[in-house]
Amino acid sequence: MLSDDFLYQLKQSNRIDSVMSSYVNLHRRGRNYVCLCPFHSEKTPSCTVYTDTDSFYCFGCGAGGDVIAFIRRIENLEYIEAVKFLAERAGIPMPEDAKDNEYSRLKTKILEINRSAARFFYNSLLSKNNEKALRYLASRGLSPNTIKKYGIGYAPNNWDSLKTHLLSQGYSEEELLAAAVCTRGRNGGIYDLFRDRIMFPIIDLRGNVIAFGGRIIDGSGPKYLNSPDTPVFKKSRNLFSLNFAKGAKSERLILAEGYMDVISINQAGFENVVATLGTALTSEQARLMAQYAKEVIIAYDSDGAGQQATHRAINILGQAGINTKIIKMEGAKDPDEYIKKYGAIRFKVLLENSGGAIAFELEKCRAGIDIETETGKVEYLKRCVQVLADISSPIEREVYISKICSEQNVSKEIIKAQTEALIKKRINTEKKLETTAIFSRAQTQDKINPEAMKFLKESKAEAGLIAYLFFNPDKLDYVLSKLPPEKFVTSFNKKVYEKLANIIKNSHDFSLSSLNSEFDVDEMGKISEIIVKNKDIAISEKEADDYINVLLGHKNNNAANSDLSDEDFINLVNEIKKSQHKMKGDFYE
Ligand code: CTP
Ligand code: MN
Repeated sequence: MLSDDFLYQLKQSNRIDSVMSSYVNLHRRGRNYVCLCPFHSEKTPSCTVYTDTDSFYCFGCGAGGDVIAFIRRIENLEYIEAVKFLAERAGIPMPEDAKDNEYSRLKTKILEINRSAARFFYNSLLSKNNEKALRYLASRGLSPNTIKKYGIGYAPNNWDSLKTHLLSQGYSEEELLAAAVCTRGRNGGIYDLFRDRIMFPIIDLRGNVIAFGGRIIDGSGPKYLNSPDTPVFKKSRNLFSLNFAKGAKSERLILAEGYMDVISINQAGFENVVATLGTALTSEQARLMAQYAKEVIIAYDSDGAGQQATHRAINILGQAGINTKIIKMEGAKDPDEYIKKYGAIRFKVLLENSGGAIAFELEKCRAGIDIETETGKVEYLKRCVQVLADISSPIEREVYISKICSEQNVSKEIIKAQTEALIKKRINTEKKLETTAIFSRAQTQDKINPEAMKFLKESKAEAGLIAYLFFNPDKLDYVLSKLPPEKFVTSFNKKVYEKLANIIKNSHDFSLSSLNSEFDVDEMGKISEIIVKNKDIAISEKEADDYINVLLGHKNNNAANSDLSDEDFINLVNEIKKSQHKMKGDFYE
């Protein structure tokens, strides 16, 4: 267990608002902050950051907790890893005993295995027997320098060459499976995952080899094979070549579709290029890019699929606050081919002439339409209005409206009115959707404490007592003496009560953070909800006594009690209405 002193120091050096602000845009509201919740998609902010309790809570999706819970959720880390992450961020050394847990030992092992595998692939590439692999890379125009820089290698055409090599170095079969360089066959034995493939190591920002992509040279099978997710690799949150792109210290990143594009672009002199790893762009990757660049130039393939993916990427990058530009490439299917055909200088011109996202979307409106006909023109303008309504800056909107109207020779007033009507309509739909979501959450979604709906009065009393103790830890002995944990009715609240009591007893400085090691991130959200809902109305001793009496008066095995009584039902509906009303007041004005 981590000491209170350590946790206290950790939190002092990682204030929740400062940590969260590197992931989201925080807006001050009174003593607190609000932001668009990074854990679900929304357009009006329902995530609140409380500076007094150093915690956050999203009224839309129920995510919540302290700064450690935030990092666990957003970085997808185990509790102890999140603590390490924050310790590193603040430059605080970890206490010795926390370092050595089994999971992080496995991760270290996997990184060693990956490094060793990468070296093995690299040496195989240079071996005389595998000449065809090196020839292939040369035919693709890769220089020896580039091959070395990216650590490109070759997985021999064998079922067990890597396996044998790694076993001889002392790694176990289980470890090779965990690293996913080997996989288990139907007969129970294990064999190499990558065979007869050009190997691209995927390297993180610390220089660790975290995974591989492998391309076939000839023969059958999928063109690319990528490592599955492992304890050291989540493909949705890494980018190929970010290790080099980060060093470029450019305000812009180039986003390409594939490994070969990235490598060619890099070889052509542009270090600031990345690609996703065999999947479509994710919002996590967009946030990652936002840490390094203000602007991203999308350089996807010129085919239909590439343009479709561009449209998607524009939205995802936009949500992460990144300004996007799009290259317009003609005469080649992808940047790799373009550079080979026309050279680096012309590629540079493409980059410099890349247009903005709005121009790209407006251009797309013309697809498949003959603007010279009356109906074609109407259809085109209708599509344009959809795009125009997405522009958030009124000035920018005005500029594009003028441009289209003078091009098409139509009245500006009409297009402007149409656009504004659409914007209004969209805002209304959005609000309705969010209100419905919040309402149905309040009504049904209590996955963490499913018994709460059944025992409304009791669970409310339990929550009240939990909050009471949270804000008045000195009252623990009193409450415990009257109400042993067995008297709690819902099992989740009982667990919270027990753990909370334990922590208050044993710590001199307890906070929400002390609960992190006992509860998962969803449970932390639930606990934050209890605290947030009770934080502004101080619970009096008298109320605490009332809660205790409710729980003492509850008869456990009474079947009639387990259904919602009419009275409880009416209370529930009123409560939902009230909280909905309150939220409306908070967010929708
Ligand atoms: N990809 C994949 N699995 C496949 C095909 C593609 O994971 N079976 C991913 C790879 O990350 C690849 C990217 O999608 O780099 C783009 O695919 P594609 O355009 O087909 O590959 P290129 O990068 O152009 O590869 P090459 O030039 O070697 O054909
Ligand atoms: Mn290609």
